[in-house]
Amino acid sequence: MSADNTIHGQWSSRLAFVLAATGSAVGLGNIWRFPYLAGENGGGAFVVVYLACVLLVGLPLMSAEILLGRRGRRNPMDAMRSLALAERRTPWWGGVGLMGILAGLLILAFYSVVAGWLLFYLYRSVSGWAAVGTAGLDRLFSSLLSSPLWLVGTHTLFMVLTVTVVAMGVQGGLERSVKILMPTLLFMLLLLFGYAVGTPGFGEGVRYLLVPDFGVLAERPALLLEALSQAFFSLSIGMGALMAYGAYLPKHASVFRMACWVTGLDTLVALLAGLAIMPLLFSYGLEPAQGTGLVFKTLPLAFGEMPGGRLWAIVFFLLLIIAAWTSAISLMEPATAWLIENRRFSRPLAALTAGGVAWVLGVGCALSLNVWQEYKLFDKNLFELLDYLTAKIMLPIGGVLIGCFAGWVIARRLTLAELHVPDGMLYRAWLFAVRYLAPAAVLVVFLDAFGIIGFSG
Ligand code: PFF
Repeated sequence: MSADNTIHGQWSSRLAFVLAATGSAVGLGNIWRFPYLAGENGGGAFVVVYLACVLLVGLPLMSAEILLGRRGRRNPMDAMRSLALAERRTPWWGGVGLMGILAGLLILAFYSVVAGWLLFYLYRSVSGWAAVGTAGLDRLFSSLLSSPLWLVGTHTLFMVLTVTVVAMGVQGGLERSVKILMPTLLFMLLLLFGYAVGTPGFGEGVRYLLVPDFGVLAERPALLLEALSQAFFSLSIGMGALMAYGAYLPKHASVFRMACWVTGLDTLVALLAGLAIMPLLFSYGLEPAQGTGLVFKTLPLAFGEMPGGRLWAIVFFLLLIIAAWTSAISLMEPATAWLIENRRFSRPLAALTAGGVAWVLGVGCALSLNVWQEYKLFDKNLFELLDYLTAKIMLPIGGVLIGCFAGWVIARRLTLAELHVPDGMLYRAWLFAVRYLAPAAVLVVFLDAFGIIGFSG
């Protein structure tokens, strides 16, 4: 293995990396999680805080993560360990990478269950909507959540799809599918947005999403944490997914420029999804705070009324499944690379093992929505608990530690060369962000969310 390559191969070009990293970033986080969190947290205020987190914390940390991957050229744990040793620091930094690997499997567990919901809606689009109208869609979503068979079945199918690609190696199949997927997904979102423009609730929906009313901070004490953690989740940072992808990056690409592309595309997709969905809520007189069912209870309404709506619904759910798929693949890659490099597993066996662990946990998540509903910890079922633990705790902490590692431990000349930016304002701004701004932001938001200081609530 040369210093420029890994045993897992390399992306064929910079574009291939940007597409794969965007494939990781764009997923359920943008189209399922972002709109429902915005709806629960008063719209504009959430979006403004979210955008600030993306720009000031997300982008610098994403650059840090990719650059560490390319320098370390291994799975997140060993990359951080060997880079720390090279700088004569404690190998315990590897623990940050290990936490990321575990976080990936925990996220994958509930992620795959939600992707299973999409498979169910795809099936319903193909077989014809039995339920149109708001009440019918409400019932359809509840009946899905109360069916262990559908939930476990679709979760299993999605996991099999994910394991299959990871077992084959992420470059080949992934590169090709993402190249077609991304433009088509954008087109579909534009189409839905175009539809939303013509609905009576358009103005109100856009205002709700884009005009902040910071008064909601008083009613939504967790808003800051929700927005910050959504930035980590949506950008795929804090757990080494992009570090693992960065390890397969050709040598001369500018890490910073690539991080800008991925961040920009991810944000564009989230905003478009929000702009397509919010007007529908107001047009149909629905409450924005619909929780996890928001997308599933609104978008089919639009499809129901469009000419050729059934076909559009099929295309849309199919695209969303592929978007979730490319993200799930990246959630599994760190654990898979770890098993291959440390346990000498073959790639298929490593993928099967990582997928197996996430599958078992996912079955628990699926059942926690119905038959195990009453088993709760901190008032949360397993599904909610895993979402909370990963997005709100593990990703922000992991992300900040990754940023501190890049900013404080790795020599300046190395980070400068990897980022490929001039040694001026931009570099200093990056350094400031990873060294001070990101840790301070996460600290303040944690203190606020746990009621130690009071910005909100
Ligand atoms: N960014 C993905 C999404 O928005 O759906 C989810 C995700 C993928 C989170 C990879 C974290 C990660 F490492």
